Amino acid sequence: MKIEPMTSLIGAEIIGANLGNLSVSEFEVIHDAFTKHLVLFFRDQDELSPEVQISFAKRFGNLHYHPAAPKSKKYPELFVIHSHKNSKFADGNGWHSDVSCDSEPPLGSCLQLHVLPSIGGDTLFANMYAAYETLSSTMQRFLSTLTAIHESEHLYRGRYEERGVDDTNKIYPTAEHPLIRTHPVSGRQSIYVNPSFTTKIKDLSGSESKSLLSFIYNHQQRPEFQVRFRWSKNAIALWDNRCTQHFALWDYWPDERKGNRVTIKGEKPFYRASPLVESKLKISDRNN
Ligand code: SIN
Repeated sequence: MKIEPMTSLIGAEIIGANLGNLSVSEFEVIHDAFTKHLVLFFRDQDELSPEVQISFAKRFGNLHYHPAAPKSKKYPELFVIHSHKNSKFADGNGWHSDVSCDSEPPLGSCLQLHVLPSIGGDTLFANMYAAYETLSSTMQRFLSTLTAIHESEHLYRGRYEERGVDDTNKIYPTAEHPLIRTHPVSGRQSIYVNPSFTTKIKDLSGSESKSLLSFIYNHQQRPEFQVRFRWSKNAIALWDNRCTQHFALWDYWPDERKGNRVTIKGEKPFYRASPLVESKLKISDRNN
């Protein structure tokens, strides 16, 4: 297997891995690359059966069940990503970390796309360690004292109606998480708020919360922190939701885009203080 980084901060392509048949040592290489590059891409794969994709994802931990999307009886852990000419929404079409409204949000997600639009449908991923590390130490310290509220009703209610989900009596998850979270494997800090699920910073006034979130969103969406993946048929992306965000562009309507996502369950986000880190990346705010 070969690991080819795609940018200096995020994303690597793994060449020569057969995800349906990985040895223990190959899996260790992939796991280390996942910790280092945050998002891994695998091209030239066969279309994985649900069983194979599920058993690959299970090597990282227990699986997560989506709180809103329709589920098949046989594979309830499979989240079908599908948009087409009659879709009113496309999943992931905004910056987010998957299901951050859950009290134990996903560790990671593994998506394979089987049907691609003729052009477009790229996914952007952004490094939230870098977003944290490029803040001033004063801002790092301040943000690490804060807790944010993540909600989902505004996103999910009615969303899957077109796929037969009746959610009239459903209660959707909401959770409070530290605004800066510590990664349980790397020990690094990252920003853990996103414009899709985060609705407020606790203990701030409405306008303070709105202004601070708007500053953070602007900062975390800088292109320096991003990698953009152009899909090929049956390519797979595997991302770490604890330290990244992503945005699936819906720029291909009325074309179809379809695939399967299997999501790995995570733990309750926590913040553990550590020495402040200054990024080696020099970003200029002259243009802000
Ligand atoms: C998602 O899981 O948020 C969707 C990603 C994608 O469709 O590229």
